[in-house]
Amino acid sequence: MGQQDYIKDIARFGLENDQEKLLSTLNEFIEHNKNSKKVNFALQLQSLLKDSIRKQQHNSLQKVGSPSHYQQIQDRETDELILEKLTSDYSLDNLVCTPSAKDKLVNFLEEHRNSELLSKYQLPISNKLLLYGPSGCGKTLASYVIAGELQKMMIVVNLGAIVSSKLGETSKNLAKIFRKAAQEDCIIFIDEFDSLGKVRDYSQDHGEMKRVVNTILQLFDYLPQSSMVVCATNQKDMLDEALLRRFDLAISLELPDQQQIHELIRLVLKEGQFGFDRKVSLKKLIEVAQGLSYYSIQKTLINAIKRSLFAMKDKKTIKPTIDTQIWHDLLIQEKEALAVE
Ligand SMILES: Nc1ncnc2c1ncn2[C@@H]1O[C@H](COP(=O)(O)OP(=O)(O)OP(=O)(O)O)[C@@H](O)[C@H]1O
Ligand SMILES: [Mg+2]
Repeated sequence: MGQQDYIKDIARFGLENDQEKLLSTLNEFIEHNKNSKKVNFALQLQSLLKDSIRKQQHNSLQKVGSPSHYQQIQDRETDELILEKLTSDYSLDNLVCTPSAKDKLVNFLEEHRNSELLSKYQLPISNKLLLYGPSGCGKTLASYVIAGELQKMMIVVNLGAIVSSKLGETSKNLAKIFRKAAQEDCIIFIDEFDSLGKVRDYSQDHGEMKRVVNTILQLFDYLPQSSMVVCATNQKDMLDEALLRRFDLAISLELPDQQQIHELIRLVLKEGQFGFDRKVSLKKLIEVAQGLSYYSIQKTLINAIKRSLFAMKDKKTIKPTIDTQIWHDLLIQEKEALAVE
């Protein structure tokens, strides 16, 4: 069946109020789109479908014990633990990093693009990734890049939130999220992975921390090959040694060096809409920026662009120039605020 036939059927069953046929055709249509590489569209449809099923079940009598009822209850419980569920358009081009980090990331993605080939030879697929490094250096961004490159839905889990709010139930909750991700073929992204260490502070019960770490160890050990979990931390040292060993791969995302700052500037100015004036040389600016994170450098540059635009007399200039003195001063201020040498 072609695209148009599906749409005709969907319209017909919708108008005839034939829910059963409508749902089965929609499911076929989703598969059809997945197979024809329109994965993002398929994922969007799938999530529409799931949302609507969920709403219907809220509003109507349910068939207790039916598979959909079971699924529904689990959904309602896990929804509170999930920070967001997203698809992403980010690609590798959006991330500046060391050649070694890029190389690791590219190979990790390659494994997932070639998972069938690897399975054919019974080779294990690396699916547990740890991203670590200082704040503002692209850990969260890298997770979006992975979701975007593989065109998969990503479930963002905030371990901090789960641990503090659901004390005593943390292990159960984590298991639920992992199950859900496997069912829906999503990537699990666990941000603030180090907050596991915080269990110790919140809990009166010292066994809790151990239980949670053990649960994670088990979930990792039994993670299906088709699933993927990405964790991020800026305090790698806080992580349990046994946990660290479970990761197939750890990628360090560090503060940018001069070369990477240069690349970041190019990325921010990629449309070539803006030029620099020559009050402060680019070389000097890059030197001043060193020691700051990608996030801080990008933020101050964008602020400098805005201020330069406001100060411009002729607002219709084709290629506005950035006042480099303004950016220089903002960089210095940022360094002072963050107490960076
Ligand atoms: N390596 C990078 N390349 C390009 N842009 C970056 C990079 N790192 C950070 N940025 C910019 O800074 C923003 C914030 O970075 P991000 O949220 O990924 O940092 P993080 O490492 O997750 O920090 P935190 O530890 O505070 O969560 C990104 O959305 C992006 O605009
Ligand atoms: Mg982050």
